[in-house]
Amino acid sequence: MRHIILDCDPGHDDAINIIIAAASRDKLNIRGITTVGGNVEVEKNTENALKVLELLDLDVPVYKGQSRPLVKPIEIATEIHGNSGMDGPVLPEPSRRAEDMHAVDFIIQTVKESDEKITLVPTGPLTNIAMALIKEPTIKDNIEEIVLMGGGTFGNWTPAAEFNIYVDAEAAEVVFTSGIPVTVFGLDVTHQVIATEDIIECVSPIENDVAQFVKKLLIFFGQMYKDYFGINGGPIHDACTSMYLIHPELFDLKDVNITIETKGEATYGMTVVDLLKTTGKKENATFAIGVNQDAFWDEFIHILKSFN
Ligand code: BDR
Ligand code: CA
Repeated sequence: MRHIILDCDPGHDDAINIIIAAASRDKLNIRGITTVGGNVEVEKNTENALKVLELLDLDVPVYKGQSRPLVKPIEIATEIHGNSGMDGPVLPEPSRRAEDMHAVDFIIQTVKESDEKITLVPTGPLTNIAMALIKEPTIKDNIEEIVLMGGGTFGNWTPAAEFNIYVDAEAAEVVFTSGIPVTVFGLDVTHQVIATEDIIECVSPIENDVAQFVKKLLIFFGQMYKDYFGINGGPIHDACTSMYLIHPELFDLKDVNITIETKGEATYGMTVVDLLKTTGKKENATFAIGVNQDAFWDEFIHILKSFN
């Protein structure tokens, strides 16, 4: 059993990631969900997390976190996720509210007081995680692993940088230099799990509310990817993190050194992945390079059916 905190900015693929984790409670104990400014403003991301939990009828506390990156103004991604951050499906207003405690304090308290090591699962900008490590560096010892979506050897927000890392590269630098085991699902692997029409057709006949919600997410997200990037379907980036936690055997991983670029004019926010070990720098991350696509989608459909 892994004890996890999902740190996210839902977000179509963040929402799907929560759903995968929620369906796998025999393997994952979700201690809390923390939100961060990213895809849209932190208030909206928090509202979206609460809505998803209500749909799942899942009693997990939600904590609102940082509204902006460590050193620069926030950039949001309404081009991809719409104004609400989760456009497409319409969910009722949540009846529950976020807890009063700040996300960063929740992360610190949970990690400090837990008898079991905690795995952090960030799928948005790394601001909350960096803040927690800066405020209370001793928590490092009780963090089992940080399993994150971000980066890659190409970009989607600039030619060099992926959105989550670009939005708060300084925070990413704190995380990647922390010495904590970091497992990275970047664009190299997430662009291998694109929810094409074929996938949507497999989701469509699953009659439960969760699957129908996912179907609407995928239709909207896919249209945005088509319009914005000319790609036939949305890569369900963040879903790789929970899928890895429950099915690590699906992924090919490589230990590498990753340096975060925080100064480059054209390359700010780049994850410089030393795949061929050209620098001699010590490995500080495990980087996902491949996924068994058929098995991934089989498991995805299996999970959605489990809500019947
Ligand atoms: C990442 O950015 C967001 O738009 C997605 O939710 C994902 O976390 C992909 O670059
Ligand atoms: Ca995200």
